Amino acid sequence: GIVEDFTDITGRKRAEEASTRSEEQLRALFDSAADIVFTKDRQGRYMRVNSACARLHGISEEEFLGKTDFDLFPEEQAKHSADIDRQVLVEGRTFTGEYDRQVKGKPLTFSVVKTPLYGHDGAIIGLCGIARDITEQESLEEQFRQAQKMEALGTLAGGVAHDFNNLLGGILGYVGLIKGDYSPEEKHYAMLELVEKAGVRAAELTNQLLAFSRKGKYELRPVSLNNSVEDVLKLIGRTLDKSIEIATELQEKLPSVEGDPGQLEQAILNMCVNAAEAMPGGGKLQLETRVVALGEEFARKYLGSDPGDYVLLSVSDTGIGMDSETLSRMFEPFFTTKEVGKGTGLGLSTVYGIVKNHGGYVDVRSQPGKGSTFDIYLPVSKKQFTPPRPRAAELQTGHETILAVDDEEIIRSLLEETLQKLGYKVILANDGEEAVQIYEERKDEIDAVIIDMIMPHLGGGETFREIRRRNPDVRVLLASGYSQDGAAQRILDEGVRGFIQKPFELVELSQKLRQVLD
Ligand SMILES: Nc1ncnc2c1ncn2[C@@H]1O[C@H](COP(=O)(O)OP(=O)(O)OP(=O)(O)O)[C@@H](O)[C@H]1O
Ligand SMILES: [Mg+2]
Repeated sequence: GIVEDFTDITGRKRAEEASTRSEEQLRALFDSAADIVFTKDRQGRYMRVNSACARLHGISEEEFLGKTDFDLFPEEQAKHSADIDRQVLVEGRTFTGEYDRQVKGKPLTFSVVKTPLYGHDGAIIGLCGIARDITEQESLEEQFRQAQKMEALGTLAGGVAHDFNNLLGGILGYVGLIKGDYSPEEKHYAMLELVEKAGVRAAELTNQLLAFSRKGKYELRPVSLNNSVEDVLKLIGRTLDKSIEIATELQEKLPSVEGDPGQLEQAILNMCVNAAEAMPGGGKLQLETRVVALGEEFARKYLGSDPGDYVLLSVSDTGIGMDSETLSRMFEPFFTTKEVGKGTGLGLSTVYGIVKNHGGYVDVRSQPGKGSTFDIYLPVSKKQFTPPRPRAAELQTGHETILAVDDEEIIRSLLEETLQKLGYKVILANDGEEAVQIYEERKDEIDAVIIDMIMPHLGGGETFREIRRRNPDVRVLLASGYSQDGAAQRILDEGVRGFIQKPFELVELSQKLRQVLD
């Protein structure tokens, strides 16, 4: 008995050792897999997971024990997994497929195989799953499809646009010539003007298409995106609805990029206009610039990109956002979600073409109801940006004293600052009555008056008349947000010397004011 027992034990021990060894080897194999491997019991509880799986979720292998998908994923997704598992467990079928899962807040796509696990008696005791994170690969494939689509559309649009441009050149040229044979009173002249207008509009569209297909002409010089952003905001800032707050975060000493300043401004403008349109009930438009060093990882994630230093321009809004359908089509020429006749759908195509043309990338993040962010990456240029100077030469200055009346505070302070910068002494009035009163008291000192046309109580016209009653030779510049229409013309006819449309540009204001004074 003793001897037998002894042999028995050695045999068992050997067997145990061998089994531990093979268990260890299995474990090593299990953990060396880059793929996620796990087993679950019939109730969907995790039994074993490999270290790739534990790493992905940031939970230790022990902590996984007994957890189900409902502890790991959002409910909808856990239910989806449970349905798949049921098929594998009940019908003994192998599942092969792809699905999306939110892991630690990040949306990932997995390619998954799930197979039944059999016990000694041949019954299914659980399942084994192998999953691979294919998020990056999917995104690259999607980018590739997208790039091919844009390329094809670009070729198509560019071809059409090019021919159209030539045809339109002919049409417009001859319309101009024929127009010369008629006098403006003849009815054919008016008709030709209509043809010309339509032709010019068509040429504008064609030019946008050309910009998209990257066939448009453009100049190359160092550009400061900070300057471009500021110029665009100057242009649209005051026309945007007041419910839209504009915020900028422009990095100081931003390196320049190389490109066509006009085109880059056009791209920024288009994005700002879209952002504003996405916030009909108000919101925040944010523009940001900074330098980013894009590494290998970025280059791997974004098709056709190279690592290096880039200037990043972000335009974000808190507007309606976009669904995935819109996101995948927004850059297509003529894609618009506006009603027929409202938008051309060329705004973003132009942005896309311009950015590509400048060797850059666009990255868009958006969700319905959560606003949108457009990230534009443009390669940093070694060349130094020199601010355009010629404008300064056109600036006309003076030392006279100007009385400026406007009912809006920002306009008043803007006028004050601008006029002082031009060298003038400035007196401000909040409304017509105050202006008349000040003029009465200090008319010997005041050389000219800038009057806003539309003001409560005493309007621009009346204010002008009251002031003129006190000095028939008063020099007045009339300002209005509307173009010079009938109402403004009547006041001008009464003896106002000049008209300027708001929002005014510095140069224009300086010149108009000189005209009035001299
Ligand atoms: N900031 C944004 N927020 C929400 N949706 C946007 C935004 N920017 C663009 N879109 C969507 O992309 C579509 C295409 O934009 P795009 O600028 O090319 O054309 P559009 O604005 O519709 O027309 P157009 O620019 O000629 O007025 C828009 O119709 C809109 O659905
Ligand atoms: Mg647009």
